[in-house]
Amino acid sequence: MIRCTIILCALTSALCCDWLRHYNHYSNVTLTLLRQMGGQLTEDESPVSFPFKLYTQVRHRKVESQLIFIKNSLLGISDLYRHDNLSSPTWDTKVTHHFQVNLHRLKEELNTCVPTSKQLNRRLTRYYTRLRRTLDRTGGSIASWELIRKETELHLHQLQLLVTSILNSAASRRR
Ligand SMILES: *[C@@H]1O[C@H](CO)[C@@H](O)[C@H](O)[C@H]1NC(C)=O
Ligand SMILES: *[C@@H]1O[C@H](CO)[C@@H](O)[C@H](O)[C@H]1NC(C)=O
Repeated sequence: MIRCTIILCALTSALCCDWLRHYNHYSNVTLTLLRQMGGQLTEDESPVSFPFKLYTQVRHRKVESQLIFIKNSLLGISDLYRHDNLSSPTWDTKVTHHFQVNLHRLKEELNTCVPTSKQLNRRLTRYYTRLRRTLDRTGGSIASWELIRKETELHLHQLQLLVTSILNSAASRRR
């Protein structure tokens, strides 16, 4: 574990990203809340297709870019829930609030891992803008919120896989 930390320090230059080792735990907590705040996840297709390609591409990038990608994704996701009309879904208010707090924390903690440079991935930003518009277009309908919830689950899951691969590659480089 200590070895892993040292490598991550080296890879992310000035900042040591010790917290990354705990990312998946806190992300799991967030995912659990996401599932508990409403009923079954919808099986409807999102009108904005999921950016699997961006996740595949980022795997080939440097760790620093990967961390920036994660940071931008968390930003994009939490912005979705800052929409005016979070009142319309039938979700449990208290659990939804906890979910938002945990999501915010995930984002804040990750910020300590990422250099302040604002390298935005334009395609990722565009994706989240399009996803947000699906809410605006329907005035925040229940159905569109359920789609957002489903897409959020997919993203949190993909981000966990990315974090796992960063931690694994840091560990294997040391060997
Ligand atoms: C997160 O949850 C998944 C499946 O629910 C589990 O396999 C994994 O070990 C958990 N990770 C952490 C760090 O708790
Ligand atoms: C929020 O949703 C309600 C009910 O669906 C709708 O009447 C209202 O216009 C929406 N407000 C905004 C700002 O979209």
